[in-house]
Amino acid sequence: MSSYQFPEGFLWGAATASYQIEGAAEDGERKPSVWDSFSATPGRVLNGDTGGVACDHYHRYEEDVKLMVQLGIKHYRFSIAWPRIIPDGRGAVNEEGVDFYKRLVDCLREHGITPHATLFHWDSPQALENLYGSWQSREMAFDFADYVTAVVSRLGDRISHWMTINEITCFTHLGYAVDKEPPHAPGTRVSSLKQVWQTSHHALLAHGLACQAIRTISPARCSVALVDNLSVTVPIHESPVHIKAAKKAFHTCGENGGIIFPALTGAYSPALLEQLGVNAPDIQEGDLETIHQPLDALGFNIYTGTYVRAADNEVGYEFLDLPKGYPRMHMPWLNILPESMYWGIRHISETLGREDLPILITENGCASQDEVNVKGEVIDTDRIMYLRQHLKSAHRAVSEGYPLKGYFVWSLMDNFEWAWGYDRRFGITYIDYPTQQRIPKASFDWYRECIRGNRVV
Ligand code: FCB
Repeated sequence: MSSYQFPEGFLWGAATASYQIEGAAEDGERKPSVWDSFSATPGRVLNGDTGGVACDHYHRYEEDVKLMVQLGIKHYRFSIAWPRIIPDGRGAVNEEGVDFYKRLVDCLREHGITPHATLFHWDSPQALENLYGSWQSREMAFDFADYVTAVVSRLGDRISHWMTINEITCFTHLGYAVDKEPPHAPGTRVSSLKQVWQTSHHALLAHGLACQAIRTISPARCSVALVDNLSVTVPIHESPVHIKAAKKAFHTCGENGGIIFPALTGAYSPALLEQLGVNAPDIQEGDLETIHQPLDALGFNIYTGTYVRAADNEVGYEFLDLPKGYPRMHMPWLNILPESMYWGIRHISETLGREDLPILITENGCASQDEVNVKGEVIDTDRIMYLRQHLKSAHRAVSEGYPLKGYFVWSLMDNFEWAWGYDRRFGITYIDYPTQQRIPKASFDWYRECIRGNRVV
């Protein structure tokens, strides 16, 4: 048997998100999302870029599905834009917006590609920002559940793999952060850490209510997942003392203790609550039960990690700063720690105690400084290096028996990378934005070979 072979049935895919690729911001009765407003505000997004046109996927989806066929993926993760479906955030459903997703999903299915739909990937309706400040209000969770009901009742005959919400930390903690300049959309800075935690609590509630809505409305048995970018602690050595430290540190690393813990275990991590003190969010009776819904899978987005070692201090561990010159890809935060793939998966099973829960890598990838050469090719060997190391780490998790079931590369194509605009390219397909030409990169061919052989090549 060749090395790095994945088990039969391992699912290979690619991922995108609505605001990052669709464009057509004003087509089909869509109204603005918070990202339209944020990117239209001078100084918010690099080079003044907006998602107004992006990859024009709204009009070119058939060409993009052909690209998927060429790649050989059988699974595609995309997101549905709330402001296309319910342009005012609550109230009337816009069937023209629904129709776009019907066309897309039908095209995918005709080509034997299973759609995995994320119901929220950050582009919430601006109308709800104006009405009550988006995630600052508990009402947002209930409006989200109504939107989910509208989507699943119209698309549930075609889609049976649902993902509720993408990366709660990013649009809450980065969105409302007290100390980040400039914050992520919608750009409202709240005045206390408690209020920031309240926004993520509301998002968790939205996830729970959405799970219930999907299960109630879906006409057929379906799969429901949450997508989280848990912060991964990687032991500096794989020796028992540092592994123990990494497990302990997992509770307080990033926002883990207040997001993935309640979602998967039904309780905020006590270690985090102790650390937060008066800044812990207000939790109403019944909230934790609502949040802790049965899931069919966890979507795990993984790009990097944090090294940890055992320490002779009160908590027994310490987070390690990276040395100057530590290798990273083309983002300030994209430090290369391929072991974070393996350790993230292992923490879900062991530290969160959810060895029963199937895991999908719903995003993994990197930005590179891609250039089209004189032959018209993009030879992104750095991306291949990054992806290969991460897939090997995923393979290790599978071979040790952890329940990793599939992998979606981020991303099918270059796209609007939020506050970094079009300057940062994460695709395995190069987009020449002025002409909208799609140029598969060397990493595209490499990934196709992995898929074809069901192994790391
Ligand atoms: C993730 C986001 C995704 C993309 C990648 C690079 O945090 O979910 O939309 O921006 O990072």
